[in-house]
Amino acid sequence: MFTIKFKIILAYTLAFGVLLTIFAAIIYNSTREAAFMKLDTNLKSYSISLRTEIEDELDDHEQLDLKKLSAIRAKGLIEEKFQLFNSKGEVVTKDSTFYNIPTDDIKKAVKNTFIYEKKRVKHRKYHILWSSFETAKDSVYILETAASDRDVHEELDRMFYLFLFIIPAGLIITGITAYFISKAAFKPVARMADTAKNISGKNLDMRLELPKARDEVRALGETLNEMIERIDYAFKSQKRFVANASHEIRTPLTVIQTELEILDKKIKDTELNESIKNALSEIESLSKLTSSLLTIAKLDISQDKLNLSQIRIDELLADCVQTMNQAAVKKNIQITLSLDDAVEMKADKEKLKSVFLNLIDNAIKYSMSGSGVTIVLGKITGNKININVEDSGIGISPSEIPYIFNRFYRSNEIRAEISGSGLGLAIAKEIVDLHRGEIKVKSEIGVKTVFNITLPTNLS
Ligand SMILES: Nc1ncnc2c1ncn2[C@@H]1O[C@H](COP(=O)(O)OP(=O)(O)OP(=O)(O)O)[C@@H](O)[C@H]1O
Ligand SMILES: [Mg+2]
Repeated sequence: MFTIKFKIILAYTLAFGVLLTIFAAIIYNSTREAAFMKLDTNLKSYSISLRTEIEDELDDHEQLDLKKLSAIRAKGLIEEKFQLFNSKGEVVTKDSTFYNIPTDDIKKAVKNTFIYEKKRVKHRKYHILWSSFETAKDSVYILETAASDRDVHEELDRMFYLFLFIIPAGLIITGITAYFISKAAFKPVARMADTAKNISGKNLDMRLELPKARDEVRALGETLNEMIERIDYAFKSQKRFVANASHEIRTPLTVIQTELEILDKKIKDTELNESIKNALSEIESLSKLTSSLLTIAKLDISQDKLNLSQIRIDELLADCVQTMNQAAVKKNIQITLSLDDAVEMKADKEKLKSVFLNLIDNAIKYSMSGSGVTIVLGKITGNKININVEDSGIGISPSEIPYIFNRFYRSNEIRAEISGSGLGLAIAKEIVDLHRGEIKVKSEIGVKTVFNITLPTNLS
């Protein structure tokens, strides 16, 4: 949930939100101050115009014409009003109803030329200006002018609602932009993660795709690629060691086997002969294991390298049956090979041979004495051929089927009774995969097991 991408989007949006709010608050406040200042300036101009008129009228005919005074208007003001007091605080004239100025305030007003005040009159807010002046006849007057600040508030409200729309809209736009920016920034990381998911011990030659930009992501990718390189090297060294060790063990094993066979023939002691036979059987298992290990190590080292040549699959199968016949006869098992036509195709002969030998070996090994093994080579259909190896042996339980192609997997039930290393099917599957074919199994416990191989005939 809290991915780096999400945190970046959140940080961007929050930071922008805070900045936008501060910016909006500054603009709102300065607009407010400027608007009120303008209102007060206009009020002052209004007051000066009125005062000039009042002074002129008092000087000329000592009488004030309310109509004339009321006709004086001021720029930028609404609901402007005035009232004129004498120095005792009595109203001389007025064009509207105001509260009278308290006597204390009159004294204050007389001393100062201009006094500004805000007042709420009948639910409306007014800016008030008192200005005192002296006429030529030394009489002191106080002129109170007022104007509503409704206009300013309406303008400020409009601005407030505009910000109320702009800030969330800005946040949404920032969030979307941040999403696309971070998506683009993390795309190489996602691509590297996808490749990394597919890297396993089998394809350590794969490398992560690096972004073009020489940035931190590329540096990380380069470091990971170097790490994969080191792991690949370590894996290859280990596989080379297994291959070399298996190869080196094979020669002394053959020597020991030959020597024991000679000894077996020379010695005529039942007990000793029995021991030699046991030793020979163990050596056989050991040499099978070393040859399986060698095959699998070679497959690992020279991955996807097939030594392709034009071969006759029918002949190869007949050859394998021939090789395994001795073991079958020993167990009184009849191998039936069903070949319709000659089948020619491109394949790695030695590798395919080990596939067939492993399957026939299993069919014999896991069958009861007196049963039969059937090998059927199907006709070419499309670009494929089919080979079935069927036995009527112990069978494989459905729960084990998913694991039988794993290296070193052996069924628990037969582990103690029948020798084996659990590598035969793993080798078979890897070779069939290299040929871009498929190997499948169907089995019924205690009834039969069928291994089915499909191979493409158009391999190049
Ligand atoms: N034809 C079969 N019938 C019954 N079980 C089988 C058959 N073929 C394979 N299996 C089961 O699958 C397991 C794996 O087979 P695999 O050939 O890989 O190893 P293995 O025969 O035990 O040893 P290895 O072939 O290396 O000598 C076997 O241990 C066995 O339990
Ligand atoms: Mg086997």
